[in-house]
Amino acid sequence: MATYVVNGASKGIGFEFLRQLSVDPKNTVIGIVRSPESVQPKVASEIGRDNIHIIQGDLDDYDSLKKASDATAKITNGAIDYLIANGGRLALTSAFVGLGELGQDHKVMEEELAADFKTNVIGNINLFNVFMPLLLKGKEKKGLFISSGHGDLDLINNVHLHFAGPYAVGKAAMNVALAKLNAEYAKEGVMLISISPGVVDTGNGFLDTDKLSEKELKTVAEFGAKMAKTSPDFKGPISPEESVRMVLGVFHKASAANGDGGSFVSHFGNNKQWV
Ligand SMILES: NC(=O)c1ccc[n+]([C@@H]2O[C@H](COP(=O)([O-])OP(=O)(O)OC[C@H]3O[C@@H](n4cnc5c(N)ncnc54)[C@H](OP(=O)(O)O)[C@@H]3O)[C@@H](O)[C@H]2O)c1
Repeated sequence: MATYVVNGASKGIGFEFLRQLSVDPKNTVIGIVRSPESVQPKVASEIGRDNIHIIQGDLDDYDSLKKASDATAKITNGAIDYLIANGGRLALTSAFVGLGELGQDHKVMEEELAADFKTNVIGNINLFNVFMPLLLKGKEKKGLFISSGHGDLDLINNVHLHFAGPYAVGKAAMNVALAKLNAEYAKEGVMLISISPGVVDTGNGFLDTDKLSEKELKTVAEFGAKMAKTSPDFKGPISPEESVRMVLGVFHKASAANGDGGSFVSHFGNNKQWV
């Protein structure tokens, strides 16, 4: 029996967390979403379990996160065991170009970087801060940030992963922020970890090739070929079901005693194989 909070639970990987974590009827699963009015009916029809509670919260709005924490405390008696910071901004404008190309219009580059930093870094730090009092009262005291291989220097350098600069900078910055939070709260029994979920076909992200231009499709194909070279086991995107199962396996196994606090690993549980 455990209590989980999952942010960005409306769709994709976050929605799959709701599904897998609610299988055990003894678990209480809180999903934080930006638009509960559209997510609640979806959860009812596609999962249909009464141990899931949907609450409003937006990473760009501190007050909404604070309210989400207060509303969660009322449901869970003031304590949670696990916090999963999954929500994130992924903008098409900067997804498939390098920082040099993006910066040809420096205003666009600055806006993209600022927007990613606001949502994916500041928003996530606020999320951890408002839920920390609840986590500190929980039994497990574990937090997870869903990061990305884009934030790993070796991967960027080995395959010359040049695109999605603002997103990658945000993920790398948040990996550091998470390690800082872990360092701050470790003495109180908290263990925080960043895990990349792999390349996951959620059906609504950038792997939805119908939405991409020819140039963007070329970048995706080049990326696939590079990954296949460095990771011969890479057979293409995995399903949200497989990704979340693997991420939860790594997360549940991770412990402060094993030195996992503040680390950044893949869904394989290491920092070498990202896909
Ligand atoms: N899919 C992949 O291959 C992949 C690879 C590496 C890392 N990731 C990471 O995995 C996480 C989930 O991604 P996904 O692939 O499942 O993407 P997705 O299907 O597009 O879902 C993104 C989620 O983030 C939420 N979100 C966006 N902006 C937000 C904000 N300002 N405040 C709160 N929530 C916000 C979205 O809510 P709305 O429905 O309200 O927009 C949605 O629930 C992200 O952190 C992403 O960076 C994904």
